[in-house]
Amino acid sequence: MYIKSLIAAVIISVTAASGAKAELVTQSLPKPDMRGNRALMQCLQKRESVRQFGRRAVSEQILADMLWAAVGVNRQNGKRTIPTALNSQDLTVYVIKHDGAWQYDAKKHKLIQVSDRDLRPLLATQDYAKEAALDLVYVSTSDEALIGAMHAGSAYQNVGLYCACKGLNNVVRGYFDKEDLAKALNLCENQQIMVTQAVGWPAD
Ligand SMILES: Cc1cc2nc3c(=O)[nH]c(=O)nc-3n(C[C@H](O)[C@H](O)[C@H](O)COP(=O)(O)O)c2cc1C
Repeated sequence: MYIKSLIAAVIISVTAASGAKAELVTQSLPKPDMRGNRALMQCLQKRESVRQFGRRAVSEQILADMLWAAVGVNRQNGKRTIPTALNSQDLTVYVIKHDGAWQYDAKKHKLIQVSDRDLRPLLATQDYAKEAALDLVYVSTSDEALIGAMHAGSAYQNVGLYCACKGLNNVVRGYFDKEDLAKALNLCENQQIMVTQAVGWPAD
């Protein structure tokens, strides 16, 4: 039943002010799994950029845990795994994978589809990046780019440590066309892409 809930895509109809109907495709994520991980000091020791990826798919559980590590809600008061200036919580993580682009809704711990296209080729500006199972895109609505960048840095370091903990490869990436990616993700003017991060299992 648990597994079924992972793959269940729920279609929610919302009525816009205009009366027009828009359909949001959402995907439930399993609860973060807190068991059986390496100790923090071992993860820190293993943290590194690795520009090489295999074909093995990243499971829903791993993706859920990774997103929670990035910006998930870790307390009853709604605060996150990363600190944010004045608790602004301005950072949103998007996931780019084979079945489209998804926005992580941290409060509901769910994915909301923002594109049904595989946008990974947009991030393949370096050869190794073509093979990554998924890319995370860190988007901030902060008025101050420096603040947004600091928040993105906290989140990608959490993900880097999570990857080290699980034996996944990852690399933070600033080399891509921000404008094309922002368009493809249907971002608003106040949403700035800070950086991306390619993630996947090592090659066999
Ligand atoms: C903000 C930022 C942007 C980066 N952009 C790229 C990139 O576009 N392509 C790439 O291959 N590596 C990129 N890197 C990875 C760095 O090259 C890497 O962290 C550095 O060489 C140190 O290696 P290490 O992460 O294994 O310690 C980036 C890292 C950061 C923090």
